[in-house]
Amino acid sequence: MWSKTMTTTTEAPQAETLRLVDGGMNFDGVQALEDVSISVNSGEVVGLIGPNGSGKTTTLNLVSGMLQPTTGRVMLGDKELTRMSMRKRARIGIVRTFQSVRVFGRLTVAENIEVAALGCGLRRHEARELTEELLADLNLESVANTAAESSPAGLIRTIGIARALATRPKFLLLDEPAAGQNESEAVELIEAIRNISRRRACGVLLVEHDMSVVMSTCDRLHVLDSGRTVTAGLPQDIRHDPQVVEIYFGKRH
Ligand SMILES: Nc1ncnc2c1ncn2[C@@H]1O[C@H](COP(=O)(O)OP(=O)(O)O)[C@@H](O)[C@H]1O
Ligand SMILES: [Mg+2]
Repeated sequence: MWSKTMTTTTEAPQAETLRLVDGGMNFDGVQALEDVSISVNSGEVVGLIGPNGSGKTTTLNLVSGMLQPTTGRVMLGDKELTRMSMRKRARIGIVRTFQSVRVFGRLTVAENIEVAALGCGLRRHEARELTEELLADLNLESVANTAAESSPAGLIRTIGIARALATRPKFLLLDEPAAGQNESEAVELIEAIRNISRRRACGVLLVEHDMSVVMSTCDRLHVLDSGRTVTAGLPQDIRHDPQVVEIYFGKRH
């Protein structure tokens, strides 16, 4: 009996799946998304890619609750979230970051992260510990004690990701987290996110337009074009998919 209780309390968080099922979005006659089904499991990073205007941000908006789909459903396991507000979804651990991030400019980078951890109920020493861990994982240690307001845009975005992770989400939705960075910086950032997501069993749905970046960093990929799914699967399988090659390379040659 005693050992059973012990096992229960030390158990890893239950694995879950977040899904958009047959999602469609129509903006006053513009069909931005049609019949898109996408899933993310705990601890994996799924890359959502496609050309400009293909529906990536709209997909993220439907999953996060920023928008409600015209058709289809959003599911967490067997629980339906389709009409649940973004705020409520965040409360149950589905968190998205925005391309323009707000930070507390007067606070240091470390304090910005710690405040986010404290805000979701961690005790002070737990918040501090998690902050140290995130600073190390996201290569923010050298700027930990500088004021956030003096940070360049790319760094502000990384602070935003750290703040989101400090709330210990079950699922994190990221829209172009490496925007404005070069390929090696982007790979480094996304690899860091992947390591954290594995360790904390957090599922990540990540929008990124650079094919080679997602190829080397994501567990699975989902490719959109004109609001529809082109293909989905393992990066090594998608790399040679003729439709993907056409979308990404065909039109430019
Ligand atoms: N709020 C909106 N109102 C009208 N059309 C929109 C709106 N948001 C997105 N769209 C349209 O939906 C399509 C998909 O946009 P989006 O999801 O932002 O693409 P991506 O993120 O892949 O660049 C585009 O044609 C875009 O113009
Ligand atoms: Mg977008």
